[in-house]
Amino acid sequence: MENLKVKALPASFYNDFLSDQAKEWVFSPIRVLLPLEKTPGILSVLSGCPHSSTFPFTSLSFTAKDPTTETSETTITIPQNQLAPGLQYSDTAGLPDLLRWTTGLQERVHGRKHGLNGLGEGVEGWRVSMGSGSQDLIYKAAATMVSPGDSVLVESPVYAGVIPIFKHLHCKQIEVPTDANGIRSESLREILKNWPRGKKKPKVLYTVPYGCNPTGMTVTLERRKEVLQLAREYNFIILEDDPYYYLYYGQATRAPSYFALEATEPFSSADGSKTITEVGRVLRFDSFSKILSAGLRIGFATGPEALLSRIELLTATSNLQVSSLTQMITFHLLQSWGYDNFLLHTRKVSEFYGEKKDVFERALERWLGSGTNEEVANEGRLAEWNSPASGMFF
Ligand SMILES: Cc1ncc(COP(=O)(O)O)c(C=O)c1O
Repeated sequence: MENLKVKALPASFYNDFLSDQAKEWVFSPIRVLLPLEKTPGILSVLSGCPHSSTFPFTSLSFTAKDPTTETSETTITIPQNQLAPGLQYSDTAGLPDLLRWTTGLQERVHGRKHGLNGLGEGVEGWRVSMGSGSQDLIYKAAATMVSPGDSVLVESPVYAGVIPIFKHLHCKQIEVPTDANGIRSESLREILKNWPRGKKKPKVLYTVPYGCNPTGMTVTLERRKEVLQLAREYNFIILEDDPYYYLYYGQATRAPSYFALEATEPFSSADGSKTITEVGRVLRFDSFSKILSAGLRIGFATGPEALLSRIELLTATSNLQVSSLTQMITFHLLQSWGYDNFLLHTRKVSEFYGEKKDVFERALERWLGSGTNEEVANEGRLAEWNSPASGMFF
């Protein structure tokens, strides 16, 4: 839409979204000073980094598939001087090179403009932060935002991996039903409209919008718009867990992520004009597990600075950071590919899962549908299902 102004929610907006415990978290006295060590001319006696000359690794080479051909491999070598940051402690948010690359990816794939200070047009107040897989970040985000006793909105059936998260945090999961088109926004509206007076309102909605684990559903554009509208109306934040985003093999034009949508969906102002869109209601989780390797343990969160900085307080006091070495390997692979070949690679991965889906669906049709199996022929269809358009689940 032309002349649509993008306005980032101010940092103070998130005060109400912090959990009781997150409000009390303190900075790691060591980690908060780490950036100072990069000041030219500083001789640091601060952080207790082991001396890199004692590390036995001198270079690293690995081979990787070339996305532009079906067969060939390329060798990627990281020489000693470039390898050094990968062998050392690094920033809590992630290796700067990988942060830059993934920020560029978000700009390109989701059409969002990066920028932090919230001043000036087009500066949207988001950044990226690395985690040990997206699971790590989802746990930390939940701990950042929900206090014991809080209610959280979760789609149902929900990814089994988040049930223990919300249980650990002693919060109540309010299930929002889903169907083939994704989360049922009219049910969500009913839940919110009939929310008991005096009961603390939910601050977050957890959803897996592409190729959901376990249902395989992908949310339609219409539903996404309605859910975003509800987030704005009832004041909650969408936790967009999207590890299957790049595994879309559907034929229809793909719907934008919630992260993309919030920057293009106008926000109706009091006078009814639709010239402003408000961003900062989406905390997005990406993962390299399904497209590069699950063993790398790298995921990244994209969203408002005010939430990411709290998540990083937790990282700084738990695991300090994601492994510098796996971040470095990932960065060198991605840099050698560039964005185009990364996207080409993900397209091939999605085609792989699309073919598997077809094989599985043919078997379903044969044994549970109207196929050639004699029993099925006698009994009629034994099951109904919806064909997924993304991901690994049926
Ligand atoms: C919906 C969903 N979220 C998160 C994860 C965790 O992914 P990661 O390997 O990035 O921690 C998975 C893994 O299966 C998943 O299915």
